[in-house]
Amino acid sequence: MPNLQSYENTIKNFSWAMVEKELQYKPGDSINIGSYCSDRICQMGKGKKIALLWEGFGEGEKKFTFNDIRLGSNTFGAFLRNLGIQAEDRICLFMDRIPELYISFLGILKIGAIAQPLFSAFGEEALRVRLEDAQTVCILTQYKHLHKLRAILDQIPHLKHIIVLDHDGKKPLKAKEIPFSMEKATAVENLEIFPTKAESSSILHYTSGTTGKPKGAKHVHYSLISQYLTAKWVLDFQEDDIYWCTADPGWVTGTSYGIIGPWSQGITQCVLNAGFSADSWYKFIQKNKVSVWYSSPTAIRSLMKAGIELSKKYDFSSLRHLASVGEPLNPEAVVWAEKVFGKPFHDTYWQTETGSIMITNFPCMKIKPGSMGKPFPGITVALLDLKTYEPILEPGKSGLIAFKPDWPARMRTYWNNEETFKGKFKNGWYLSGDRATMDSDGYFWFLGRNDDIINTAGHLVSPFEIESTLLEHEAVAESAVVSKPDEINMEVVKAFITLKPGYQPSKDLELQIMNFMRKKLSPLAMPQEVEYMDCLPKTRSGKIMRRVLRAKEWGEVIGDTSTLDEEN
Ligand code: WT7
Repeated sequence: MPNLQSYENTIKNFSWAMVEKELQYKPGDSINIGSYCSDRICQMGKGKKIALLWEGFGEGEKKFTFNDIRLGSNTFGAFLRNLGIQAEDRICLFMDRIPELYISFLGILKIGAIAQPLFSAFGEEALRVRLEDAQTVCILTQYKHLHKLRAILDQIPHLKHIIVLDHDGKKPLKAKEIPFSMEKATAVENLEIFPTKAESSSILHYTSGTTGKPKGAKHVHYSLISQYLTAKWVLDFQEDDIYWCTADPGWVTGTSYGIIGPWSQGITQCVLNAGFSADSWYKFIQKNKVSVWYSSPTAIRSLMKAGIELSKKYDFSSLRHLASVGEPLNPEAVVWAEKVFGKPFHDTYWQTETGSIMITNFPCMKIKPGSMGKPFPGITVALLDLKTYEPILEPGKSGLIAFKPDWPARMRTYWNNEETFKGKFKNGWYLSGDRATMDSDGYFWFLGRNDDIINTAGHLVSPFEIESTLLEHEAVAESAVVSKPDEINMEVVKAFITLKPGYQPSKDLELQIMNFMRKKLSPLAMPQEVEYMDCLPKTRSGKIMRRVLRAKEWGEVIGDTSTLDEEN
């Protein structure tokens, strides 16, 4: 029996207060995600249950019980507090998917500080911009990532401490760098939990903007209410599940559903700290007997590409429920999964800003392959007219996906950027920036984004950030970045550039530019192709018309460009 048995009956009398009751929270009480995901689970008698089954690439396996997670997060919390870290201080997590990432995340929250997870593949520039914006005071990292911090240290004076989690005691450390080993530190049995309230800040997740710097979506501890229930009803956790979320906690899926969702319910999860390979993923599922699996369309397409023959070598009988997020899930992927795993993927739609799943396919509901499903109970969604921002009532018409801003996990602001935050609301609706249609059965169908942001392999990248970095290269005079179609990643980055006088287009220069980008940004933001241009298409006022370039890449008709003029 799925946890949610009837969608129709549930939406009729749904209230978030029911979840508050289930979590024994009363308005006005303290609520702390770190404590809910560890201390409370132990108090419920599950201290000996496995919380984390971890496997590293060539680094063996590790197991942690909920009591280990409780003690480990206490130990991190106490260590940070002793360093002078205060509530609301921003603490960055910048590491691969090592156990410390998951455990220190809870420790940071336990002392009321704000966790700022960043994807460890980020290069110097991507890191600098985000640490500067958040005025981060402390960063937890691994030795292998230190060089990126050392390169930018003089530009981020507010950063006081760099905690190196895997220092071997031999290699020299530099200013501000402090070694700390979770495993060697004396475990802290009792930590005073900071009495965070519903609206106390918890997590800052950076996401890409079209025209400006990355924006830090600020979340609060009350988000737990949404994350707990969506995980229960959409991922359908049962007591004995072994759950695998393939997302990195540098992105919101990896925290909302790679830490908070499962652990607030005392569910065992496993983590594979290695890059993608169809073989090792299949092996991982078989070996750990994964029963609930949350992944992404790009990963599914990559598995499809590896072929059905490979999949036949493995036993997938443990899998009970599959879900996907991040990009449109092709109907073929849903059908393919039924053939290979005997189960379809359930598409889920949400964003960094929403903090929890908004539109989704529930286990108890018929799947229409290609549809994102229906709104989660308690979520009021509308499709708005692109010009008037009024709800469109007829089914089948396309509109902007918008939500009534009243669910617990919504972001509370963009850090340092209240103006951009306010710009996300019209007529009392939160605007997602995506377009969709709804059919006469109330199912939603994704159409596309309503801006220039590129969704490559489920990761949003900002053309603006890539263009700015391109301009830092000595040879580049102007740049425009758009997406181009890709079989696996759906979209990849393509850069159009004009060169400064004295530079000639060449394959060599292209390689040089790509290497420059890799170091500064991240492998995701790397252009897959650079096209040299004599000049870029522009509006009369001199703005680059990305849309003209994009249309060319996608083989779309551009139409009358004079009407595009100032909209871009
Ligand atoms: C954007 C949000 C929170 C999930 C990870 C991404 C796109 C997300 C779907 C889906 C089509 C989707 C949207 C959205 N997106 N899920 N099921 N079907 N598109 O979080 O980086 O904030 O990206 O990803 O465009 O706005 P994010």
